[in-house]
Amino acid sequence: MERKDGVGHPILGIESSCDETAAAILAPDGTILAERVLSQIADHAAFGGVVPEIAARAHLAALDAMVKDALREAGLGFTQLAAIAATAGPGLIGGLLVGTAYAKGAAIAAGLPYIAINHLEAHALTARLPGLAAAQPAFPYLLLLLSGGHSQCVAVEGLGRYRLLGTTLDDAVGEAFDKSAKLLGLPYPGGPALEAMALEGAPSIALPRPLRGREGCDFSFSGLKTAIAQLVAEEPPGPIARARAANIAASFQAAVTDILGDRLSHALAMCPSATAIVVAGGVAANKAIRARLAEIAAQAGKPLIAPPLRLCTDNAVMVAWAGLERLRAGATSKLAAPCKPRWPLDSLA
Ligand code: KG4
Ligand code: ZN
Repeated sequence: MERKDGVGHPILGIESSCDETAAAILAPDGTILAERVLSQIADHAAFGGVVPEIAARAHLAALDAMVKDALREAGLGFTQLAAIAATAGPGLIGGLLVGTAYAKGAAIAAGLPYIAINHLEAHALTARLPGLAAAQPAFPYLLLLLSGGHSQCVAVEGLGRYRLLGTTLDDAVGEAFDKSAKLLGLPYPGGPALEAMALEGAPSIALPRPLRGREGCDFSFSGLKTAIAQLVAEEPPGPIARARAANIAASFQAAVTDILGDRLSHALAMCPSATAIVVAGGVAANKAIRARLAEIAAQAGKPLIAPPLRLCTDNAVMVAWAGLERLRAGATSKLAAPCKPRWPLDSLA
């Protein structure tokens, strides 16, 4: 193994763009040697959402010990790495600064290349991690990113080549789940709680399906959230009856499922050469949504690749993998590379 090109050695990836602190080490062939993730949900739950300052301080408190712990598990020191990759955007600036400053400092100290990773690119490339899908998806493939911060439909045409087919015009899909769940009195993050409640009810309430049938594959969820707010406001004062809340939850989930299914069908028409459909983001954990997307993929004769949940939600394995792909392509970053709280995927080329 020769250190000069870096490619023959493991890579360290760091994620700190939102409310997960994560570190992972991958072998040159993509094998996961160590992975760590620490969710800050408990730190933010009392506030009903992520508080940026609390997030940044929590990353700072956890990151160094986490990286050293991962290195220990992998049996490596910093100087045995090929490179250090860290999420540099998009995300909350405080957390991005913590992760990238740590990565740059360690890279300088150990004489390694630094690689600034776009968080969305990391989600987009995860499906190519060896062993994850029956076959590594070839470019181009479709990515449906459904998280608390992002709702995007992207044609992944190559490393660094992403064509944005559609995005949300207002709330992200996970945000719509969280806000609707909150209206129903469910705890944060509301997606899993709302899904569980939906199982007790029936989709018996008529709700809007914003943008369904419209050209393109943009999303809109705020009208749906407003509809839920109105339904809740019409209820008698006091906690909402469980059976009623369950019907509202089921109806909300059915509406989101219809919207996403419709948007995916449009995306397939916009990228007919797609070799596969990849879903990522926490909302991809939703069984009803997954089942609908699988149905549409099967109809189109394309495989649906849904990485295991821990690789679907924010993690550092995806950052390390994107780093490996970039390292192989010779696309390392300058130490002066800035953090970018806003960093659209289609600006990477
Ligand atoms: O990808 P993710 O972990 O990261 C962030 O965006 O930070 O996504 C979290 C989002 C939250 O909005 C959460 O409510 C939603 O994913 N989510 C779900 C489910 N599990 C997580 N939404 C619907 N159904 C679920 N089972
Ligand atoms: Zn993410």
